[in-house]
Amino acid sequence: MEKAEIRTLIRAAFEGQGFAYAPYSRFHVGAALRAKDGRVFKGCNIENAGYTATNCAERTALFKAVSEGVREFDAIAIVGSKAGEKNTLVTGPCGVCRQALYEFGGPGLTVIMAKSEEDYIVTTLGKLLPYGFGPANLE
Ligand code: THU
Repeated sequence: MEKAEIRTLIRAAFEGQGFAYAPYSRFHVGAALRAKDGRVFKGCNIENAGYTATNCAERTALFKAVSEGVREFDAIAIVGSKAGEKNTLVTGPCGVCRQALYEFGGPGLTVIMAKSEEDYIVTTLGKLLPYGFGPANLE
């Protein structure tokens, strides 16, 4: 991916982060998932007083897209930080989100974990979830 495209996707992830509902952890996460047709779906984490009902930003973005008929993706950008603080670590997708993304993105999905528009790591879902279990296993 070109630098300009990466920056655009990171900016969208920060926009998603702006809507995070995280009164319990105060950790605000944003994600921007780019479909193969170029559309970008933004997501934020949505916490719950019952804790386990919390939804991560990545899955919010994914479920928005899939529920609108979009199933093919090429990249996702993720940002996360404690409310009002600058992040010192990149936010990698949790294990559940890696699995959920694998279903539609497969090992080739580009994953951008960003601290800012200039400071980020680019990797692939295949590297984050080696030997992932996916639709092919059930054929
Ligand atoms: N969180 C995400 O939204 N995505 C991740 O990949 C890591 C964790 C959220 C869940 C919870 O609302 C907060 O961050 C702290 O775990």
